Amino acid sequence: MLKLIVANWKMNPATPREARELYLKTKQAALKQRSARVIICPPAIFIGCLNHKTSSRLSLGVQDISVHRNTGAFTGAISAAQASYSEAEYAIIGHSERRAAGDEEKIINTKVKLALAAKLNVILCVGEKSRDGEGGYLQELHEQLTSALAGVPNNFYKKLVIAYEPVWAVGKGASGADTPAEFLHHKLFIQKVLSKTVGAAAAKAVPVLYGGSVDHKNAESFLNEGQAGGLLVGRASLRADHFKQIIYAAR
Ligand code: 13P
Repeated sequence: MLKLIVANWKMNPATPREARELYLKTKQAALKQRSARVIICPPAIFIGCLNHKTSSRLSLGVQDISVHRNTGAFTGAISAAQASYSEAEYAIIGHSERRAAGDEEKIINTKVKLALAAKLNVILCVGEKSRDGEGGYLQELHEQLTSALAGVPNNFYKKLVIAYEPVWAVGKGASGADTPAEFLHHKLFIQKVLSKTVGAAAAKAVPVLYGGSVDHKNAESFLNEGQAGGLLVGRASLRADHFKQIIYAAR
């Protein structure tokens, strides 16, 4: 299975010109890497400036969508359908920074369903705020998964990607990342939770990505030792030289 290497640019870079430059450099690396599909999630306002042509190696995504289905008086919002009519093929939903801004479980569940109905692939982010020694946080993970996916028909799971992104590891620098061994443990836990709804084979087919302080030095260990289905990368995706090495780590 292709590794999914996702760039979450967040609210970067500052100008459309910089966005185009970063896109072109990332594209060059992506087109050379047969073992990966690279998904760039720029600020939505830049999607139209990138002259993107869909290919099997490189896709675009949005970082969030509105909780509202239809067009209307929702200042600042972008619907799943609007995202889908742009070149976006993926939507990140439930990122910890959106959860911190007020996206509760019910909202995340609605967004997941709207994105799937608009034919977008969903990158659903889950992850605990902190980790207690007794494994109590696994309950938090379990709840995030089951509530976000409540009512999602089984045949949509093929359009689903889970990003396990422990909140405590986001934006910390490489020493603050999780370990590949711990990631693997959590990947298996996530697939076990999904298997209760869709069965073991379909759950195993859902890619589980690692996110949280991924850089060009630790990427390979998460992909190999951690058996990650891919990576969700923040800051290091803004450095074309570093992100190129992360893409090549999927070899
Ligand atoms: P960093 O890679 O900067 O830790 O960000 C992770 C993240 O939030 C990606 O969605």
